[in-house]
Amino acid sequence: MPFNIEKIRADFPVLKGNHYLDSACMSLRPNQVVDKINEYYKEYPACAGRSYHKFGKKVTDEVEKARKIVKDFIGAKKEKEIIFSKNATESINLVANGMEFSEGDVVLTLDKEHNSNLLPWIKLKDKGVIHEIVETNDDNTFNMEKFEEKLDKHDEKVKLVAFGLTSNLDGVSIPGSEIVKKAHKAGALVLFDAAQTVPHHEVNVKKLDVDFLAFSGHKMCGPSGVGVLYGKEELLMKLTPMIVGGETVIDSTYDSFELEELPSRLEAGLQHYAGILGLGCACEYLKKIGMKEIEKHELKLNEIMSELMKLDKVEIIGPVDPKLRGGIFNFNIDGMEPHNIAMMLDESSNVMVRSGAHCVHSWFNAKGLKGSVRASAYFYNSEEDVRAFVDAVKGLVKDFS
Ligand SMILES: Cc1ncc(COP(=O)(O)O)c(C=O)c1O
Repeated sequence: MPFNIEKIRADFPVLKGNHYLDSACMSLRPNQVVDKINEYYKEYPACAGRSYHKFGKKVTDEVEKARKIVKDFIGAKKEKEIIFSKNATESINLVANGMEFSEGDVVLTLDKEHNSNLLPWIKLKDKGVIHEIVETNDDNTFNMEKFEEKLDKHDEKVKLVAFGLTSNLDGVSIPGSEIVKKAHKAGALVLFDAAQTVPHHEVNVKKLDVDFLAFSGHKMCGPSGVGVLYGKEELLMKLTPMIVGGETVIDSTYDSFELEELPSRLEAGLQHYAGILGLGCACEYLKKIGMKEIEKHELKLNEIMSELMKLDKVEIIGPVDPKLRGGIFNFNIDGMEPHNIAMMLDESSNVMVRSGAHCVHSWFNAKGLKGSVRASAYFYNSEEDVRAFVDAVKGLVKDFS
């Protein structure tokens, strides 16, 4: 389908009059996804997998259809490798709490992980797990040598490499396949936090050969409150369920239970059916637009935003080349507070961006920075949106210098 920005924007009525540049936090949803959510509540608002009436059968079919769509979207082998969760955070915690770790095992993360891919690993220190940081380069790009040094240093004690595949700080993606190959050779498993990858880039878990992949619906045009944990079947089967209860068991007595097969054993309790259906619809929507087209459009918008680097007072976070930053332009203005900048952009020009530490407090603390301002564009943003942002920032720099 040819990329037609006007047609796309018509699917997002909320864009009218608004320059929304905060999609790395939460994307907007097209009418199609909202309609799918409503379809569930209006037409078959029942429980999946339990009730044998018409509504029950319909919602069971729809959930399994959505699971297949998600499976195809990320190139997984089997439907049962797709576990629906609340969000990427819960998906990562399912692995951190479900994998068997022993004292002395090592988990590696990068130096700019979202808290959701940092805290679960820090917490494992209680079990004697060693958590170590792999530093990135000065411009935040991946440093393969430093990664290899860590693998060598721990000589087969690295149990898991848990990296953000694309950073929410700067939009930088890391070389996934190469990392997986090196980690596997060293006897480690790999989890990628793909919360910022799946919405913006084509992901194929089979080609990546990654062991676990976590992402959220709300950053990829899906509803909030639904996410995914992908895992290779044999590895998911080895996870101890973090939560148990309804749906996770085949049978129980007063003092024992027998766990279900995948995916049910890891999907405890009644699920967010409307969310799951909406996520399936979001995957179909993105697929129709085309992930390559999405990447291309984001780059075009980021090239426009990157004009701001010419201003002396503007300091960018991450590499200068927009090709390496997806749709993200993260920056500071010398002498101005990030929250003030964000509020002024909103009030003066109707430009919505995010300010603060973007849930990457550890990186800001290490750099001695308080925070920054992050503009994040998605495929539904127009050149006019990013021009409004650029003009408004230029105006602020002029007024406050
Ligand atoms: C890279 C990354 N990982 C994890 C998360 C956490 O996502 P969620 O809050 O949906 O669990 C985010 C959200 O901003 C993110 O950007």
